[in-house]
Parts: sequence; C-alpha cells; structure tokens
Amino acid sequence: MGGGSSYTPELIEGFILNYKEFPVTEVWLVDIPEGKHKLDIVGKLAQRMVERANLPIAVHLTLDRREALKGADFVSTQMRVGLLQARIWDETIPLKYGVIGQETTGPGGMMKALRTIPALLDICKDMEEICPDAWMLNFTNPAGMVTEAINKHSKIRAIGLCNAPTGIYKWLMDLYDVPAEHIYAEFVGLNHLHWVTQVRIDGESKLEGMLGEHEGYTGKNVPQSSWNKDLIRALGAIPSYYLKYFYLQKEMLEDQIETSAREGTRAEVVKRLEDELFTLYQDPNLSEKPKQLEQRGGAYYSEAAVRLMKSLYNDTRDIQTLNVLNGNILDFLPPDACIEVNCVVTKQGPIPLPVSNVPLAVKGLIHAVKTYEQLAIEAAVHGDRSLALLALSHHPLVPSANIAEPMLDEMLAQNKHFLPRFFS
Ligand code: G6P
Repeated sequence: MGGGSSYTPELIEGFILNYKEFPVTEVWLVDIPEGKHKLDIVGKLAQRMVERANLPIAVHLTLDRREALKGADFVSTQMRVGLLQARIWDETIPLKYGVIGQETTGPGGMMKALRTIPALLDICKDMEEICPDAWMLNFTNPAGMVTEAINKHSKIRAIGLCNAPTGIYKWLMDLYDVPAEHIYAEFVGLNHLHWVTQVRIDGESKLEGMLGEHEGYTGKNVPQSSWNKDLIRALGAIPSYYLKYFYLQKEMLEDQIETSAREGTRAEVVKRLEDELFTLYQDPNLSEKPKQLEQRGGAYYSEAAVRLMKSLYNDTRDIQTLNVLNGNILDFLPPDACIEVNCVVTKQGPIPLPVSNVPLAVKGLIHAVKTYEQLAIEAAVHGDRSLALLALSHHPLVPSANIAEPMLDEMLAQNKHFLPRFFS
C-alpha cells in the first residue's frame, strides 16, 4: 500500500535478494489516483528489476486495492497521506509558534497520525473482508501510533516496523567490524523514542565502554547536534537520535529555524531528492535500486520488512526489533500500548522479550509520550478536536496550552481536505 513510494525499489530488491528463503510469487503495488504517475514510474522500475534478476515474481500495478488484497499473505504499508506537501505543513506550521516541526515527533507527527489512521483503518476494513488472515506490516509513520490504532480498532494483525534498529546494527557492525549475527542490541521504549540498553558482541557487554564515546547512530533526516556526554553516561543507555528533539530541544529548534530559512525544511529537501529519484527511476536502462536512495532517512527499511516476512513465513524464531503490543513488558505502560522492543519472530507472530533494565529516568518521558499518542489515536479515530487539543497540550515539546490551541486550529484548517472525520 503506497506502491508509488520512492522506497519501493528497496522492497523489490529485498524480495530479489531473499528469493531462495522467501519465494514471493506476486507483488501488487497499490496506490491512489493522486499517486498514479509515481506508481507507473516506480512500478516499471520494479518490473525491470525483477526481469533483470530473472525471477518468476509477477509485479502488478493497480489503483484497485480490493483486487490486490485477494489472496494476500502480507500487506505492507508505506503511505504518505497528503504526499510531501502535507509534511511541509507539518514541519513549518509549528515553527511559527516556536515549536519543533518534525515529520513524526510532536505536533507534525500528530497531524500525520490524524491524516493517516483513518486511511489505514479503511484498508483494514477491506482486509477483514478479503484477506483477514494476512499480516499487516506497517511502516507508515508515525509507525508506533498507526500500528497501535490498527491493533485497537481493527481485527487485523499488525506489526510496526522502523528502519532505525537496522541502522543501529549496521552502525555497530561497522564500529566493531563484525557481522550482525555476532551483535545483540536491546531496545526499550516507543518508535522514534527508544533507548539502547544493551550492546553485546559475542555475548560480551560493550555498552559501558560506548557511553559518551560515540555519537551513536544518526539517520540522515535529523540535525547532527552532539549529545551531552555526561548525560549519556548518567543514563547508562544510548538514546535514539530522535530523542535529541527532547534532550536538546532548544538547540534542535534553533537549528530547524536556521536551516529551514536557508534550505527549507527537511520535507522540502526530501522533495528535491524525490524529484531527482523519480527522474532516475524513469530511465529505461535502470534496473536496480540507485544508491541515491540511501540519502533518505528511511534507507534499509525494506531489509527490516523482508526479513520480518521471511521469518514469519519460515517460522525462523530469530530476534527482531518490532513495534508490538506491550502486554506486561513495560509495567509502567498500559498493556494495549504499542512499544518498540526485541521479539522472537515465529509463524504465529512476534513474541516480545522481557527487557533487562529500564533506566528509571526515562520512564516518565515514555509514559508522557505514550499518553499523548493514545489521546491522539482516539482523536484521529473519532475526528475529535478536544481530544486532539488534549493530546497536543500534554506533548512534552508543546510549552503552553495557549500555543497548542491556535497551532492546532491552523493545522486542522490547513489539512481539512485530508481530515474527513474532523470536517464531515
Ligand atoms: C528515519 C525514520 C523514518 C523516517 C525517515 C525520514 O529513518 O526511521 O521513520 O520516515 O527517517 O527520512 P526522510 O529522508 O524522509 O527525512
């Protein structure tokens, strides 16, 4: 779902590379009329990639998702409701109120959730009717909130994914010059709000020696401000680079204001990169994923997606970092909260592993953000402005309810076309 995404070549490459253990016979790339032009370009590249690999994978392009869902085993989502233009709004309107404007964190992330959750729940309704036993792999951001909404408000089995854990393994592979099988990293928290609380190489703990010594893994999409080394040592854990928006809020806001004035917001930078990618993708001689795709923050996401499908299909029982329902893993969160933790992947689904330690200091922030998330999910499902105001007023990055209200109303008005439940 969202087949016209510039990330699709990653997914196709993943199917090609893993064909032996995961013999995909059909891939249906589904989009909506507004994305048809992208679907045609990306879809033809996908077909060329499969032909070049000489594999019997049928690649279908369609705007008819009900047709595509027939017989589906896995439904993977990678959608951006409102396209990048809506992300530009998410990243610019909050800045006008002196608040961080970001794709998935804070007010921008809430607007993406309000636009996206109803669209995903509509897809789940079709799946309940056409392929009720299919797994939904949700990449669509904000991945943790969207996955929680699907598990709460539909009968579909959804697993949330992010590329950040894959990125961290690649960083550790490089740092210690070992293959991934020799590494164990433990993740605790939420999507885009996790801490790495264990790093083991061949069973030997390395975390102590790492604290404050390395900048840690940082995606291409977040300013590279430096961590406060004493804080990292006091934490005893390595925070996700998204936590710079919380621990370095002042610096990150200043950086956003400065860079958006100079080169535009991240979404505007990405828009230029996307245009370049789609020009590349149109080249009939291109039949592989171009390197430029690794300039996107979401690089390598398909490795995570295909690895998960492969393990579900083969009952591999390997350990992967996924977004799943909490149950009693984090005793300070509700059982129906979606959290990002290590899981054993089996045919009947991911089984979350107990976490070895949750730094006391981080429990409050995790709970505060999860409370915001759960309020925002209900606001999205019911099109409820007062719930959205409650969510925003309780987000740690929003300094005052007197900022939350006008900012919310401006964002709702700007997104009116994509918020039918608010403006029915
Ligand atoms: C990171 C996150 C993704 C996010 C992406 C944005 O990798 O894990 O969830 O969508 O960055 O990257 P972009 O290149 O679009 O700013």
